Amino acid sequence: MTPDLKVTIAGVEFANPIMTASGCCGYGEELHRVFPLKTLGALVTKSITLHPRSGHPVPRTAETASGMLNAIGLANVGVDAFIKDKLPFLEDKQTRVIVNVAGSKIQEYVDVCARLEDCPPVDMVELNISCPNVDEGGMEFGSNAALTEKTIASVKKVFTKPLIAKLSPNVTDIVEIARAAEQGGAEVLSLINSVVGAAIDINTWQPKLTNNKGGLTGPAIKPIALAKVDAVYNACTVPIIGIGGITCAADVVEFMLCGATAVQVGTALFIEPDVPVKIVKDLKTYLKQKGLASVANLRGKVRKY
Ligand code: FUM
Repeated sequence: MTPDLKVTIAGVEFANPIMTASGCCGYGEELHRVFPLKTLGALVTKSITLHPRSGHPVPRTAETASGMLNAIGLANVGVDAFIKDKLPFLEDKQTRVIVNVAGSKIQEYVDVCARLEDCPPVDMVELNISCPNVDEGGMEFGSNAALTEKTIASVKKVFTKPLIAKLSPNVTDIVEIARAAEQGGAEVLSLINSVVGAAIDINTWQPKLTNNKGGLTGPAIKPIALAKVDAVYNACTVPIIGIGGITCAADVVEFMLCGATAVQVGTALFIEPDVPVKIVKDLKTYLKQKGLASVANLRGKVRKY
């Protein structure tokens, strides 16, 4: 028996539950040189904004124990160049395409998504309402329930494909924000974005990032992410994409047992760019060993004390 890795999210079928996390492989061109993108359930692009952004000056990444800090500042080519120069490359790669969208005003999210509405290769949009590294917008939208609902409801008016709301862990109550996103019309929730952190160079006494602080990702945040996925799964009805420190098939299983339907792999790509190939293979082996016919059988099955 070959276990079935297919998952369906908001009516869209994915070959498997393994996706890339936004910001960890640009627009997919370099990653496709390492392994065929059809290995993935979906490729999630770097955040796209209305206008091109160069982001923060370097250094904008720093290594930490079991993780990485980043404050890229949403560097990207802007939506028009993305549609013209980057999206065509993804058209024939036989993987689902999820475009992450960021903005500094609600109208910016709306304008970008309106342009993506007419782009057939785009299967879903992931709204980045949780970037911790910009002064205007980003996490501001995703840390206030009313603003979360309003942002999503505004985008829903112009974008008819499934909308994913990417949630921040840097809030008092992620369940309140998740419910607001669902109320606004998000068909899917992805969580968690990075955890706000800092690192200081003890020789120069300067922060290791020019933005002074950044977002922590990698295995260090996996336990935080699992707890948040579990909390949101028990409070919301829409499917969840789990994100946070995933490096192997065992991590994927943990996220699915806590309620995730799919997962995104991010920081691990910087260490081992072809790690998704290994994760897909090992996930199949795990399911076989457990005698499970489908990966979907794992969802929410954590046996709590
Ligand atoms: O700084 C950045 O571009 C990070 C974005 C994010 O974490 O959403």
